[in-house]
Amino acid sequence: MLFYFTSTGNSLYAAKQFDEELYSIPQELNKTTRQYKADHIGIVCPLYEFDLPVIVKDFILHSKFETDYFYIVMTYGMHHGGCAVRNTEYFEKAGRRIDYFNTVKMLDNALPVFDMDEQRRIDPEKKVDEHLSLIKSDIEKRRHYIQPAIKEEIDFYENFIENSAAFSAALKQPKYSVSDQCIGCGICSRVCPKGCIRVTEGKATYDRTNCFGCMACIHACPQKAIGYAEIKEKNPEARYRNPHIQLMELIRSNQQI
Ligand SMILES: Cc1cc2nc3c(=O)[nH]c(=O)nc-3n(C[C@H](O)[C@H](O)[C@H](O)COP(=O)(O)O)c2cc1C
Repeated sequence: MLFYFTSTGNSLYAAKQFDEELYSIPQELNKTTRQYKADHIGIVCPLYEFDLPVIVKDFILHSKFETDYFYIVMTYGMHHGGCAVRNTEYFEKAGRRIDYFNTVKMLDNALPVFDMDEQRRIDPEKKVDEHLSLIKSDIEKRRHYIQPAIKEEIDFYENFIENSAAFSAALKQPKYSVSDQCIGCGICSRVCPKGCIRVTEGKATYDRTNCFGCMACIHACPQKAIGYAEIKEKNPEARYRNPHIQLMELIRSNQQI
């Protein structure tokens, strides 16, 4: 049994390598009671600012899991910042035992920081499939392992916390805008895990109240009509979806409207 969250498909691609019984976290969160029992239970999701996305944290803290082996794998793009140790301690304080916590470097979809065309170019260097198969083998062996927090990653994380408060707030509670390029196709509203976008009178309207900044809508818009209102993007013309994942899979995973 594996629960996942994804905005552009990396984490769904990773999840598919580890298990066949997949459940989308945004869909599970619509259930009023969540009690799960299985021999092994996994969580796969992207890393947001060296942490779990708030939607995933909520899911873990407000669901009941009965299992002999609980694992978390996070996909990230550049620096994991020692998230495994920090989050294992956090969850253990909250009474959740974590048996395995690892990360896998994939393409970085953070538009304010990276150009997706450039990211595609360096993607092969990350050897994603090799790393995924090592993690798959760990999970099959029920290996107990928490990825150590090496100094370089801790330094990177601490520097970010110290110097990037305003940027971090702008990512966590973003302001997106919809341009006149919008043709009202509604794809943005269907990939949003929080139902923040509706199409009215042929145009997408975005309400940031529940938005936690996953960028799924921005990446999926075929017109490139959605973007940050206040942050400059590296390349507003480049968008991303994991090449192994279909748009319909993102919609089935996240759609709330
Ligand atoms: C809001 C946001 C914050 C991110 N923060 C980080 C980060 O701190 N470190 C990092 O290496 N990658 C970061 N990323 C990149 C994603 O973790 C990475 O691209 C991930 O594989 C995307 O997975 P998905 O396609 O399943 O959504 C961030 C992406 C977003 C959208």
